[in-house]
Amino acid sequence: MRKVLITGANGQLGSRLSELTLPIEAETVVCDRSELDLTDAASIGRAIGNHRPNVVINAAAYTAVDRAEEEAELAHAVNASGVANLAQTCAANGVDLIHVSTDYVFSGDQNDPYHTQDAPAPTGVYGRSKWEGEKAVARAFSGAQHAQFWIFRVAWLYDSRGNNFAQTMLRLAATGKALKIVNDQWGAPTAAGPFASLLMEVAQNSELLEAGTWHYGTSGPTTWFDFAQAIFEHEKLVVDATPCGTEAYPTPAKRPAYSYLDPDPLMQALGRKPEHWKDQMNRVFQKN
Ligand SMILES: NC(=O)c1ccc[n+]([C@@H]2O[C@H](COP(=O)([O-])OP(=O)(O)OC[C@H]3O[C@@H](n4cnc5c(N)ncnc54)[C@H](OP(=O)(O)O)[C@@H]3O)[C@@H](O)[C@H]2O)c1
Repeated sequence: MRKVLITGANGQLGSRLSELTLPIEAETVVCDRSELDLTDAASIGRAIGNHRPNVVINAAAYTAVDRAEEEAELAHAVNASGVANLAQTCAANGVDLIHVSTDYVFSGDQNDPYHTQDAPAPTGVYGRSKWEGEKAVARAFSGAQHAQFWIFRVAWLYDSRGNNFAQTMLRLAATGKALKIVNDQWGAPTAAGPFASLLMEVAQNSELLEAGTWHYGTSGPTTWFDFAQAIFEHEKLVVDATPCGTEAYPTPAKRPAYSYLDPDPLMQALGRKPEHWKDQMNRVFQKN
């Protein structure tokens, strides 16, 4: 079994990765920000040097999309320079890297599914920092003889716990107030748990999937309004919800109107079929 080091272990994705039940002989090292801080090159070197993993799964990131517009330096320090340091340290030590990125690397102006061949064109600080991070990973591993990288872009990540759109909707529904929910942004809600399982599979078996950039997600797409309705339906909640346009919720960072990342090439490469977002939501909410 391969030794896996997980960064960002307290985050939405990182906590699911950290909780995975693995075969007895599998070894994982779980690092939160206090042990491996992406803005601290020395802590990256220490963590890799001390634990000597075969592969790192990087679930750490600066993810405050709106705050990033005011904190560009910090967003870049974590998502671009920090990721560059992590990737260089991995490549130099023969350690594979599985890195997570986002639909925000695209402008969202397209009307059909985004493929990995589509040119990134981020519109905000967060998206630009993540795109810089992706490029840094590819640069660090170019010419590396004994290590490879995978980048998995994902969109609309949520969970049946924590802080995310689904939980915000449930919190708002509990107030009994009328809700207006955006109905002109498109994407495919993707649960953190199943994504974590796939990342761990690749980490444990580097033969499973060709190295490079992949789009992960469910099949769909849908809108935030329909996603919220499906959650309310599942939870048997009667909510006074009406659809609205993006302009009803002005935000410092522009939201992509279209965020659907085509999951088919990845699923075909794995010989699987993508799960429909609604089936996955029902499954994930059923469990917790
Ligand atoms: N959430 C989404 O909708 C979404 C959509 C598309 C892509 N993604 C991508 O998916 C990945 C996981 O996101 P998530 O939803 O799990 O995010 P999250 O819940 O915000 O978790 C991010 C984690 O990174 C940690 N972190 C922040 N700065 C750090 C630093 N300097 N060094 C080390 N760790 C640091 C945070 O630590 P603290 O706990 O100490 O703050 C947190 O635990 C990210 O790459 C994100 O860009 C997310």
